[in-house]
Amino acid sequence: MSTAIVTGASSGLGEQYAVQLAELGYDLVLVGRTASALESVAERVRETGRDAEVMIADLADAADLERVCERARRRDVGMLVNNAGVGTPGEFVSSEPRTEQAMLALNVTAVMRLCHAALPGMLDRDRGAIVNVSSVAAYTPSDTGPGYSASKAYVAALTESIAVKTQGTGVKAMAVFPGFVRTEFHQRIRMDTDWIPSWAWLRAQDVVRASLQDLAIGRTRSVPSTRYKVAMNLARVVPRPLLRRVLAASSRVVDRA
Ligand SMILES: NC(=O)c1ccc[n+]([C@@H]2O[C@H](COP(=O)([O-])OP(=O)(O)OC[C@H]3O[C@@H](n4cnc5c(N)ncnc54)[C@H](OP(=O)(O)O)[C@@H]3O)[C@@H](O)[C@H]2O)c1
Repeated sequence: MSTAIVTGASSGLGEQYAVQLAELGYDLVLVGRTASALESVAERVRETGRDAEVMIADLADAADLERVCERARRRDVGMLVNNAGVGTPGEFVSSEPRTEQAMLALNVTAVMRLCHAALPGMLDRDRGAIVNVSSVAAYTPSDTGPGYSASKAYVAALTESIAVKTQGTGVKAMAVFPGFVRTEFHQRIRMDTDWIPSWAWLRAQDVVRASLQDLAIGRTRSVPSTRYKVAMNLARVVPRPLLRRVLAASSRVVDRA
């Protein structure tokens, strides 16, 4: 079995990718900034009998990113999960430019660079898989987080184009579009989640399991859960002016809540 690199493996969806890929037989390279959290995920991986290597790296930092790219170029890498990603706190109109820039460095540049590093070797070996975590936000304009939505649209477009390149080869490329998932994501950006109805929340383990099943059957897009499949399909067929009006109205309701 080969090695899977999972970025943002210290919590949430990344931790689940690490554990579930170990259960599928992969050795793991766990990437993130928090050593203690990565070590405890590494322990969970080792309990399954697989190897776990911890790489402490801030993927928004050019030198750290290059180190992880070096690792992604090695022959043993059979799976790359670009999962690490952040939003930005508060409103775009009042956010710090450097915060927006740091988000793009992680959500966009790191994803592109790691795909760029891993893909040639996978194509040479005619074997491998790239899973890039996007979001339903890629298809829904957002007044509070336009930079985040746009970064996830980049991930979706990049992955689809890579899937064109890998068509007919032994390499798979798939983007994942989660809705609201209970992880540390919203706390990190101090997002108020009280207005989100309980039915809208997904569990990280379910999202990851559904996406790995979609990867196994050769899908290039994975939208975990029926409710978000319906929402995504609606967002794609509803005329954009109407979609913008509905989102603007609902965001005013949330502002008043
Ligand atoms: N939760 C949701 O509702 C939701 C919905 C749609 C899409 N997503 C996407 O799902 C992915 C995973 O997020 P999550 O929900 O699991 O959130 P999370 O629990 O906050 O996990 C984020 C992970 O990214 C890592 N990370 C953050 N900044 C990093 C950096 N500069 N360098 C390296 N690693 C970094 C974090 O680890 P360290 O802090 O240790 O570095 C953590 O392991 C993200 O791409 C997110 O955009 C989430």
